[in-house]
Amino acid sequence: MGADQQYPCRRIISKPFNGLLHVKNTNHVFYLVFTVIGFSLGLITTLCLKSFSLTNNFQAFLYYSIPPSTLNPQIVNSPQSQPSPRPFPTPQEPSTSPSPSRPPIPTPPESSSSPSPSPPPPSPPPILIPPSPSPPPLSFLRNTTFNLTGVTLKEQQLLIMHNMSDHELFKKATMIPSIQDSHDDHVQKVAFMFLTKQSLPLGPLWESFFKGHEGLYSIYVHSDPSYNETLPQDSVFYGRRIPSQPVFWGTATMIDAERRLLANALLEISNQRFVLISESCIPLFNFSTIYDYLMNSNQSFLGSFDDPRKAGRGRYNPKMSPAINITNWRKGSQWFELHRELAIHVVSDQKYYPIFQQYCVPPCYSDEHYIPTLVNILYPELNSNRTITWVDWSRGGAHPRKFGWVDITNEFLNRIQFGSECVYNGNTTNMCFLFARKFLPNTLRPLLKVAPLVLGFNPN
Ligand SMILES: *[C@@H]1O[C@H](CO)[C@@H](O)[C@H](O)[C@H]1NC(C)=O
Ligand SMILES: *[C@@H]1O[C@H](CO)[C@@H](O)[C@H](O)[C@H]1NC(C)=O
Ligand SMILES: *[C@@H]1O[C@H](CO)[C@@H](O)[C@H](O)[C@H]1NC(C)=O
Ligand SMILES: *[C@@H]1O[C@H](CO)[C@@H](O)[C@H](O)[C@H]1NC(C)=O
Ligand SMILES: *[C@@H]1O[C@H](CO)[C@@H](O)[C@H](O)[C@H]1NC(C)=O
Ligand SMILES: *[C@@H]1O[C@H](CO)[C@@H](O)[C@H](O)[C@H]1NC(C)=O
Ligand SMILES: *[C@@H]1O[C@H](CO)[C@@H](O)[C@H](O)[C@H]1NC(C)=O
Ligand SMILES: *[C@@H]1O[C@H](CO)[C@@H](O)[C@H](O)[C@H]1NC(C)=O
Ligand SMILES: *[C@@H]1O[C@H](CO)[C@@H](O)[C@H](O)[C@H]1NC(C)=O
Repeated sequence: MGADQQYPCRRIISKPFNGLLHVKNTNHVFYLVFTVIGFSLGLITTLCLKSFSLTNNFQAFLYYSIPPSTLNPQIVNSPQSQPSPRPFPTPQEPSTSPSPSRPPIPTPPESSSSPSPSPPPPSPPPILIPPSPSPPPLSFLRNTTFNLTGVTLKEQQLLIMHNMSDHELFKKATMIPSIQDSHDDHVQKVAFMFLTKQSLPLGPLWESFFKGHEGLYSIYVHSDPSYNETLPQDSVFYGRRIPSQPVFWGTATMIDAERRLLANALLEISNQRFVLISESCIPLFNFSTIYDYLMNSNQSFLGSFDDPRKAGRGRYNPKMSPAINITNWRKGSQWFELHRELAIHVVSDQKYYPIFQQYCVPPCYSDEHYIPTLVNILYPELNSNRTITWVDWSRGGAHPRKFGWVDITNEFLNRIQFGSECVYNGNTTNMCFLFARKFLPNTLRPLLKVAPLVLGFNPN
């Protein structure tokens, strides 16, 4: 299939332009031409967006027609504070609008955990404070004398090239000593665990995020076993795929995948913090800021709250008692950040998980309840009860809002970065979120562009 067939917008846009170029001879036609161009652009944009909403080729629109920065600065810079009316339609979940130019993918929507209405997990704290450039004081714990680039990377790859069953894997993972018990001098790493269907459309942003910080992170990718990836050897994701199983959204297979990621990451003793990331997630700060924020906190960032409504307590099944009673029951976003101690408990749990498998069936979704409830029963004091992954539920409905390239403005990102209030290590801060999700693939280019300035990425 040729590129033009695949990306109809490109054709539509180039034609009127060619036609109009012949008319610009006479002076008084000049204004007419501008008017026509303006009108055509409007018309074309409308056409393209219509076709986009049908074909989901928004990314193609970005890459093959007009760069966002030149299309219409007014729209690009429109303040995020007016979420409606939206200048462009938000595309629907892939499952409801199959793309005719691609074979339909039967996998349900990313992350939203439930194909059927699953009322929103915690909505983000209201935006209270104007953007402030001063995050909490940070001290980057970098030890550059420690060479981790060569041997360790190979060892890491050997660790995930196993063929253990989940049972063997989970058992082995929980037997790895914790860093305090070992006398080795290990650097402490953050494990970034990507739970994806297939590819990582925002991969290049993450590549840029990780660049220069080798030795302070580990990457694990869980994707559908049928997905056949081809990655360049110099990609940070190369060889980082763990033995995976199919995931059916809204079922316990999601939890299995999360535990599989945790177990694989636990095999490496230097991993101290464990972050679950989706394919639509972006980092909101540079690596060193995120690393410090996590390492300097002794609590985990796992959303957990008691929702008295039907979508919270209403999902509790009395048959779970006495092991789990209604006062233990919690709800929270599945996108967690756990420290090693809690990660071990999630992987080693054999008491509560079977109960969830049996009794938490739709409209109960394990991914929104299992880990929050487990942690609440076992170690409530180790959790901050808040998530560090921002998402916009403000529209209501079953799915959070998705963001496209028109949304990517400095102001919008600053708001997510600093526009909330929460507690960090006992102090109030306005830096509550380190990641944000539901970013469409077409946000990649604008995000890469603003990353050095807004996200603090190393400009090199
Ligand atoms: C850095 O790591 C090396 C190797 O483990 C260790 O010998 C050295 O003391 C560390 N330096 C600092 C400042 O922690
Ligand atoms: C780190 O270790 C690798 C493999 O042992 C070696 O090739 C590389 O030169 C070392 N780098 C530094 C900076 O010592
Ligand atoms: C698992 O891997 C080991 C070596 O790594 C091999 O000997 C064994 O046959 C493998 N088992 C299966 C079931 O593939
Ligand atoms: C994956 O892709 C490679 C190369 O494109 C091909 O040789 C291989 O058969 C594919 N594997 C599957 C399971 O589709
Ligand atoms: C629920 O269990 C906790 C202990 O896990 C107990 O303290 C609490 O009283 C129980 N609540 C009810 C309503 O049974
Ligand atoms: C976390 O650190 C703070 C201050 O250092 C301390 O007061 C608190 O007890 C610690 N919490 C845990 C769970 O260790
Ligand atoms: C988190 O919630 C649990 C249970 O409600 C509570 O015991 C714990 O103190 C809370 N943590 C913080 C930091 O508020
Ligand atoms: C709170 O912040 C102040 C100054 O910013 C700092 O001195 C203090 O140690 C912080 N408290 C905690 C518990 O982190
Ligand atoms: C990361 O961002 C912080 C805050 O914006 C900045 O001070 C720091 O220099 C950046 N670090 C790197 C390695 O770019």
